[in-house]
Amino acid sequence: MKKIMAALLSGVLLLFGLASAGCAKREETTIRYLRVGVVEYNANDTFISELVSCLKDDFRDLQREDLNISVTVKDAAGSQRTENTCVEELIDGGCDVLCVNLVDRATTSTIIDLATEHNVPIVFFNREPVREDLMQWDRLYYVGSDPTQSGEMQGELAADLIRSDSSVDRNKDGKIQFVLLEGEPGHQDAIVRTETSVSTIRGSGIELEKLSYSIANWNRAQALTRMSQLITQYGSSIELVLANNDDMALGAIDAYDRKNITEADRPAVFGTDGTKEGLSAIEDGTMAGTVYNDKEGQALAMAKLAVAVVEGADLSSFNFTDGRYLYLPYQKVTTENVATFRAKQQGEN
Ligand code: BGC
Ligand code: CA
Repeated sequence: MKKIMAALLSGVLLLFGLASAGCAKREETTIRYLRVGVVEYNANDTFISELVSCLKDDFRDLQREDLNISVTVKDAAGSQRTENTCVEELIDGGCDVLCVNLVDRATTSTIIDLATEHNVPIVFFNREPVREDLMQWDRLYYVGSDPTQSGEMQGELAADLIRSDSSVDRNKDGKIQFVLLEGEPGHQDAIVRTETSVSTIRGSGIELEKLSYSIANWNRAQALTRMSQLITQYGSSIELVLANNDDMALGAIDAYDRKNITEADRPAVFGTDGTKEGLSAIEDGTMAGTVYNDKEGQALAMAKLAVAVVEGADLSSFNFTDGRYLYLPYQKVTTENVATFRAKQQGEN
């Protein structure tokens, strides 16, 4: 409240100044300084670091003659306790708004209490807080995407390939033997993507046989280890790999590379995200398809929302779900349209 009053007061003083001078000189513009604090759950996460890089660019571009934006990014390094400390430091340092990528989606109370107490709005992103927590205060928002949609799209991509290319069913038994590489347990995107991807393929009339699943926590190196074990166990009977994200799909491909397994004995691999390296794997044909997790769209929505909330602007142009959630749509990526996504990413840099 204090900050809003100060901002209003400076505006009023400016108006008085202009009125008494009897003219509206440009050089008298009051510059507002907006300090943004961003906390990543883990700076080593490929998707998150690409998203945060877009976010920094967007805040830079939203600056105006009368608006100076500074951004401080902190890394929680996978610890909720560290993240709470980061938030405390950012608030103590005078942040006007926070963008928080939670470590533990279910443990938000310390952060929300701090923000409420100091009247600092929060835009949570990518790791969705529990609904009751988000609804605790009207200056809490979430920007992300709907994991059901990504699971459906991954399932549709896989089903299209299986139907159009009979070589996917390598042992010709009329069923597709598959393995799953899953993200962190408890993450909304991991649980929902897995369930929906599999049910979409089954729902399209394709018979699936699950050989195994493995948790690789979104991580390429872990996926390489897990996939190597699965290859040792199931050999060439694995016909399809469904990965909850691109980094794990790339880790699976790394495992086949390490074992020098030829193209003819490899499964079709599907990911999610469309990271830079994910798109490269589609371009070179090692990954069959991915689902674009629109980091450019999410970053821009977050940056615009953060500025609008601090400035007390009209929020009616935002396409909210339940007044607080902004979900950006996913898109399917295959060899046919990968160039469009590559261009979109390059446009950002
Ligand atoms: C992305 C993953 C990322 C995770 C982090 C997911 O939406 O698809 O690549 O590791 O978010 O929270
Ligand atoms: Ca088969």
